[in-house]
Amino acid sequence: MTVNWSPVTWRDLAIRQQPSYSDPGARAAVEKRLRNCPPLVFAGEARDLRSRLADVAEGRAFLLQGGDCAEAFAEFHPDHIRDTFRVLLQMAVVLTYGAAVPVVKVGRMAGQFAKPRSADFESQDGVELPSYRGDIINSIEFESGAREPDPQRMYEAYAQAAATLNLLRALAQGGYADLHQVHRWNLGFVADSAQAERYRDLANRIGEALNFMEACGLEADQVPQIQQTSFYTSHEALLLGYEEALTRVDSTTGDWYDCSAHMLWIGDRTRDPDEAHVEFLSGVGNPIGVKVGPSLDGDGLMRLIDKLDPNNEAGRLTLIARMGSEKVTQLLSPLVRRVASEGRKVVWSCDPMHGNTIKSSTGYKTRPFDRILEEVRGFFQVHEAEGTYAGGVHFEMTGRDVTECIGGAQEITEAGLSDRYHTHCDPRLNASQSLELAFLIAEELKNRRDGQSKPNARATGS
Ligand code: PEP
Ligand code: CO
Repeated sequence: MTVNWSPVTWRDLAIRQQPSYSDPGARAAVEKRLRNCPPLVFAGEARDLRSRLADVAEGRAFLLQGGDCAEAFAEFHPDHIRDTFRVLLQMAVVLTYGAAVPVVKVGRMAGQFAKPRSADFESQDGVELPSYRGDIINSIEFESGAREPDPQRMYEAYAQAAATLNLLRALAQGGYADLHQVHRWNLGFVADSAQAERYRDLANRIGEALNFMEACGLEADQVPQIQQTSFYTSHEALLLGYEEALTRVDSTTGDWYDCSAHMLWIGDRTRDPDEAHVEFLSGVGNPIGVKVGPSLDGDGLMRLIDKLDPNNEAGRLTLIARMGSEKVTQLLSPLVRRVASEGRKVVWSCDPMHGNTIKSSTGYKTRPFDRILEEVRGFFQVHEAEGTYAGGVHFEMTGRDVTECIGGAQEITEAGLSDRYHTHCDPRLNASQSLELAFLIAEELKNRRDGQSKPNARATGS
C-alpha cells in the first residue's frame, strides 16, 4: 500500500483495460449513486474468508473457486444461479468426502461482469467496432450503439449482483445445501453419465454415514455444518470506478474493504505493480488473488507479493497460476521455489483454463478437457516436487449443459461445439466435466495424503 492510500489513489496512476465513456458526467453520476448503495458483503465476512484461506495456505483446507467467465444480463435466471451453485456443492462434496479435506467454496459469481480484452477493437467483414468488455461496460451485439460503453450498466450489474447474492445466501443457508439433500444435487442431464454413477455412490456413503451418526445419538439435524454451508463470492476487480464506489470503511476495525465481493483478484493483463489495479487492491482488507501467467518472473512476482501482502499474512494473497498444460512444470517450478525460499505464506491455486484456450477448426474458442486435466496434474506434481502445498483450483464452469470445451466423458467434439455454445466470453466446463475434474482433484489430494502418512512410500516404491 502507498503510505497515503485511499480508495482514489489509483486514479493518479497508469491504468489498463478501462472503457472510455463519451459522457464522463454520466459516469460520475452513476458512481455517486453507487456510493450510496448498500454494500453487497460485510467486512467481517471477507475476514472470515481470509481466515479460511489461511487454513489453505497452511495446508489444512482446499480452495474451490469457480463460475462464469463473464456473467451476463441476458443469462440472469434463478435456475442458472442454482445450477452453478449445486455443481460447486457437488464438487465440494467429492473433495471433502474423497480426500477428507475441508473445502473453501468461492463462486466467480454475483459480480463477475468486467472483461479484459486482448484487442481494443474487433473486426467483422471489414467493419471495426470497440471490443465487448463485459456486460457492466457494453453489450455483446456487434452493432455500434451496443458497443458504446454505457455507465448505467454499472448500476444494472450491481442490481444483478445483489439479487444473485441474495439467492446464493438463501441456497447456502436455507436448507438447500443440507447434506441430507446430497442425492438431490445430481442434475437431470448428467444423471446417466459415469460421473453421476460415481457421485451417486458417494452420496449413498454420505447418507449411510449420516444415518450412523444419528443412530449413535449425534443429532446431525442440529449440526450447522451439516445443515448449511459457507459460500463466498469473487470477481476480477477490473472496472475500478465501480470497485471504488463499493469500497467502505469497516466500522469495527476502521480499515477499508471492497464490499462488492468477499474476494477480488487482479488479472494477468493488469498486474503491473506500479499501476492502478495493484495500487487499488493493495489498500483493501479483503483476501486478494493475482493471476500468475507465463510472462511473470520470480523478481516480478516478489515485487507483487511485497506490494499486496507486505506483512506476510496467511490468507491475504492467493496466487492463481495459469501457465498452460505444456509449460506448467517448466514455468511454475521456479516461481513456487522462489516464493517458498522467501518464506511467503501464500495460497497457490491452479487456473487450468486460461493457458489452454485454442480456436477450433469450426471457428469456436474452445479448451480441450484433456489439457485442463493435464495442467491440474502438472500443478500437483510441481508442488509435490517442491515440497509445497497445492492449495486450490480456479476454473470457469456453469451448471448448464453447454458444449464449449471439447472432450470429457461426453466426448464433445469440435463439430458438436455449436450445439449449445452460450458463453459471453471464454468456454466453460459443463456440469459433467466439472464433476470429472473434481474426481481427479480428489484423487490427487488423496494420493498426496496417503503418501504423507506412509513416510517411506516413495523409497520402497509402494
Ligand atoms: C479470467 O479469469 O477470466 C481472465 C481473464 O483471466 P486472466 O487474467 O488470467 O487472463
Ligand atoms: Co475467462
